[in-house]
Amino acid sequence: MNFNTKILCIGAGYVGGPTMTVIADKCPQVKVTVVDINQSRIDAWNSDKLPIFEPGLDEVVHRARGRNLFFSTDVALAIKDADIIFVSVNTPTKTFGQGAGKASDLQYWEKTARQILEVSTSDKIIVEKSTLPVRTAAAMERILNSNDKGLHFEVLSNPEFLAEGTAIQDLFAPDRVLIGSHQTPSGIAACEKVVGIYANWVPRERILTTNLWSSELTKLTANAFLAQRITSINSISALCERTGADVDEVAYVMGKDSRIGPKFLKSSIGFGGSCFKKDILNLVYLCEHYGLPQVAAYWESVVNINEWQTHRFVARMLEHMFNTIAGKRIAVFGFAFKADTGDTRESPAHLVVRDLLEERAHPIVTDPKAISEAKRDLKDVLDKVVFEEDPYKASENAHAVVVCTEWKQFAALDWKRIYDSMEKPAFVFDGRNILNVVELRKIGFEVVSVGKGMAET
Ligand SMILES: NC(=O)c1ccc[n+]([C@@H]2O[C@H](COP(=O)([O-])OP(=O)(O)OC[C@H]3O[C@@H](n4cnc5c(N)ncnc54)[C@H](O)[C@@H]3O)[C@@H](O)[C@H]2O)c1
Repeated sequence: MNFNTKILCIGAGYVGGPTMTVIADKCPQVKVTVVDINQSRIDAWNSDKLPIFEPGLDEVVHRARGRNLFFSTDVALAIKDADIIFVSVNTPTKTFGQGAGKASDLQYWEKTARQILEVSTSDKIIVEKSTLPVRTAAAMERILNSNDKGLHFEVLSNPEFLAEGTAIQDLFAPDRVLIGSHQTPSGIAACEKVVGIYANWVPRERILTTNLWSSELTKLTANAFLAQRITSINSISALCERTGADVDEVAYVMGKDSRIGPKFLKSSIGFGGSCFKKDILNLVYLCEHYGLPQVAAYWESVVNINEWQTHRFVARMLEHMFNTIAGKRIAVFGFAFKADTGDTRESPAHLVVRDLLEERAHPIVTDPKAISEAKRDLKDVLDKVVFEEDPYKASENAHAVVVCTEWKQFAALDWKRIYDSMEKPAFVFDGRNILNVVELRKIGFEVVSVGKGMAET
């Protein structure tokens, strides 16, 4: 098969895998190769058991894999062969040195840039798919264009806005695609090439082009705004609990205001995921770096309130359970950071389990997709936590169930059966407000929800 363009993506994770799969599916004339240094991840992409769970992903991978979609660990060969290279490696928060705890750790990104420089034998377009601090492209260009081979590398920014759990849907019908480039003839030409790829399925008016720095900053800002909305409603949930207001009612009515809108107003035990916290902290670091401590403090408070919300929820559990949970079995329903994913990075369930252990409770973790990830995250306390696939078994003889992930399955369980097998009084702490409280109370449960004071009863 003669392909008209060869795309490479470096990094076969939650972003690289699904985005490239959809590009391959929608552009059969383009050869798409995804590489990673992690052999077992690539083996899984080439197998029937993909390395990540994402609704609809299997079907699309099966359609494109072997036709124009390839997964490999031969990074050097794939770089040589590519016209356009998307870089989708991880950019976690730095854990050492200057900026530790806030700045992005760019070592994976820089290693990639140096490898591209080392093995390339032709001009290439390099696309930042990872979320990066604003002005990273300038540093990358300096590395890449420091070559004496006479090669030109044009760096673009094309941040990814997909949400885990709905990645395939988001990629098939994105609200917008953003491509940032230098406003020079070569920058604009490179940008048009990448626009041309997305234009195979995304309406042209949804493909937005900006300068490089706007594009890089937009991604950080978009995540900060989304997280801030969750934190705003969560902060109000605390006031609801004290006053007898119901946070779901408040959010529903507020959301009817078209200036506010209904989305991202669901109160919970807090947001998780690999991106929100990391990207806000990165924004905080940038603001500090550019001499804006007030702006930095504003955004940092979003992360602080989020963690407080999770600890606060466990403190309420303790209060309701007669101020002691030592020795009590507590079934933790859900360990993934949200429903429809097996991803547990920064999951509030993790904090909940740690807080329960601190109180010497016995947590039993159940999750439809994330048991192995939970075991990995809790590997230092495996002797203190039980993992159980079946939520009915997890709740047997438990004093309480705490819902940490909004899996639909949990709402559909036979709660009478669960009640009958539990210690009494049987408590349910609904950290996602997904359960039918009236029904549960009829069965006999003591139910505690987020943002609902006892005055609700
Ligand atoms: N997960 C999301 O929902 C999401 C959404 C939008 C943007 N992002 C951003 O996308 C980027 C990737 O996120 P992710 O969740 O896919 O991360 P991930 O950790 O799942 O995947 C990154 C992959 O890159 C590989 N890698 C690292 N260095 C490499 C190298 N030198 N050569 C080849 N492979 C290398 C790693 O082995 C890993 O498999 C991050 O910057 C993240 O902030 C993530």
